[in-house]
Amino acid sequence: MSEKSFTLTNNETGGSIDLPMREGTDGPITVDISSLFQTTGLLTFDPGFMSTASCESAITYIDGEKGILRYRGYPVEQLAERSDFLEVAYLLLYGDLPSAQALLDFRALIGHHTMINESLTQFFDGFHYDAHPMSIMVGVVGSLSAFYHDSLDIHNPRHREICAHRLIAKMPTIAAACYKHNVGEPLIYPRNDLSYVGNYLRMMFATPCDDYEPNPVAEKALNLLFLLHADHEQNASTSTVRLAGSSGANPFACIAAGITSLWGPAHGGANEAVISMLDEIGHTDNIDKYIVKAKDKSDPFRLMGFGHRVYKNYDPRAKIIRSVCHEVLEKLADPDNPKFELALRLEEIALKDPYFVERKLYPNVDFYSGIIYQALGIPSSMFTVMFAIARTAGWIAHWMEMISDPGQRIGRPRQLYTGATQRDYVPIAER
Ligand code: CMC
Repeated sequence: MSEKSFTLTNNETGGSIDLPMREGTDGPITVDISSLFQTTGLLTFDPGFMSTASCESAITYIDGEKGILRYRGYPVEQLAERSDFLEVAYLLLYGDLPSAQALLDFRALIGHHTMINESLTQFFDGFHYDAHPMSIMVGVVGSLSAFYHDSLDIHNPRHREICAHRLIAKMPTIAAACYKHNVGEPLIYPRNDLSYVGNYLRMMFATPCDDYEPNPVAEKALNLLFLLHADHEQNASTSTVRLAGSSGANPFACIAAGITSLWGPAHGGANEAVISMLDEIGHTDNIDKYIVKAKDKSDPFRLMGFGHRVYKNYDPRAKIIRSVCHEVLEKLADPDNPKFELALRLEEIALKDPYFVERKLYPNVDFYSGIIYQALGIPSSMFTVMFAIARTAGWIAHWMEMISDPGQRIGRPRQLYTGATQRDYVPIAER
């Protein structure tokens, strides 16, 4: 028994049990219920994991009340100001910031893996031209599991590392190819003398007839968005990757499972939904009407890009994105972008409304990101794909952390059964 314990008393029998309490390096105290069923035959019930720590992790820390986000201990604001996406990917994977040489080597290594197998390029042609890029992404990333048999022993740390490098390197190539398929243009091969983000922008916007020189403002903005989306502890898609991977499944297939979960509008799909919502609202004059709809429980409309399971304060990522929005719009597009003006006004009105105040609903990472993506010329159907490129760093870091844990076992939740009790089969003629 650890020093601190939590006593659970059964009011019916009067019996009680002491459950060990565990303290992490930061964050709430956790009651360890892992032996509860074995010792008492009782299960705990927590749909939506409102009060469940599903694993131990040393990667990302969030304090939702204070609006704090740290990768490996480093405040996201400092990383956003001074780091870049690939350095953050290294930090997430290896736990510490790289030396100058280690970072150079890492960039070269990722560059070395950016191409996809030529036979995989045929895969895109199987999709209809108007397939949603996320649906293509799920299929193509999942199909990576059919390659690389030489380095797929998940119990070999070196193999795990190679899988991580391959995934981080190939996601932009696959993402840009999804877009090219949608617009009917040939796939553009990566160019490894460009930065990670510059290479991606070129693969999106170059054609065999016209090369594309990445715009430094666009590169800086996209780099920031990737960095801010790189990890977010045990969110739905990361938990999906962990659960899929807990059975020992192929890592590329596990990441495809994560992409599937990310796609939903309550998660990564919200960035696309925010732009549709702003289009639908259309003008600041209509905001009040939509605020009424968002508060009406009989109306399925929700304010997209608002609210978060963990943040009960301003999402620190949204704060950073909001502050760079002005700069990006000024340098790249219309400085008086009506959508940004509309979003700012919507935020202002919502944050004064008792409904949003009482429920602590603030703008989240997705509220302003779409406005920057649009200014970069990225269509809204690609927004969640952009999120997937960035979050791959976090997903694979979590997968590696989980597989390398000696106590790791298959994730297998139980249930509160509410179906029929035993009944006898009735022959069809008697029903
Ligand atoms: N608009 C209107 N009401 C809302 C909203 C919203 N965006 N979000 C939450 N609420 C209300 C909800 O109706 C509920 O009210 P009541 O207590 O009266 O029943 C209360 O606030 C609590 O909401 P919940 O749905 O129980 O909270 P949750 O933690 O289960 O859901 C959420 C979190 C992010 C799914 C939700 O806030 C939401 O649907 N937001 C809009 C979608 C969105 O922006 N998603 C992106 C999340 S951040 C990026 C990411 O994770 O990928």
